[in-house]
Amino acid sequence: MFDFFTKQKKPLFEGLCDIHNHLLPAIDDGSKNVAMSLDMLEGFVSLGITSVIPTPHVYQDLYPNTPTTIKNAFDVLIAETSKIDCPKVNSYGAEYMIDEVFIKNLQVSMPSLLLNNSYLLVEISFFSETTMLVQAGFTLLQNNITPILAHPERYHSIKTIKEYKELKNKGFCLQLNALSLLGHYGPEVKQKAKKILQEGLYDFVATDAHHLQHLKILQNINLSKKQGIQWGAIREFQLTQFS
Ligand SMILES: [Fe+2]
Repeated sequence: MFDFFTKQKKPLFEGLCDIHNHLLPAIDDGSKNVAMSLDMLEGFVSLGITSVIPTPHVYQDLYPNTPTTIKNAFDVLIAETSKIDCPKVNSYGAEYMIDEVFIKNLQVSMPSLLLNNSYLLVEISFFSETTMLVQAGFTLLQNNITPILAHPERYHSIKTIKEYKELKNKGFCLQLNALSLLGHYGPEVKQKAKKILQEGLYDFVATDAHHLQHLKILQNINLSKKQGIQWGAIREFQLTQFS
């Protein structure tokens, strides 16, 4: 057990499913091995999270994962988690990088690693424009797949509330990285996250945990009353979509 278990702040994450994290061992920049994944699962417990959908990177340039590599890592982890009491890890998805490769593949077939058979978690590189993102979102939605944009507060090319609203109008869901609210990615990202939260534009919240330390840090989130109300609304919706 870890000392941080003593200062639990369960209500924020209590009962939630974490829909974005790098829990699967040794296939991206997240968990390096099974032992680390098991530590992370204890970290999820300490936050009150009751189920976890791992979402490894699918990014041709850096982490060229496929449904097979991800399934293999999932099977390795599940062989261990079946022996312990931990959050449910019943399925897996992926965090797809929207780049030229993704767009090219999209012309052939839809990506298969959906969340709950209906959502696709996507990201863009932090400095890229949103042209390909919008293009991909259009095609996904035509195929009844709802894109969830991971950590929208972290992109340099998306700055204003108007731009976030435009993405929502185009059918994107927005997923807050909870770590952003703690300034983990810098003060600018923190400010953007607070603004988007207060505007009520986020649909989902997730840890994007790459290691145990991320989950420990999340023990320290404090929200203002207004932010707390918006967080509550996100929670309500997330509970209807993911169990
Ligand atoms: Fe991620």
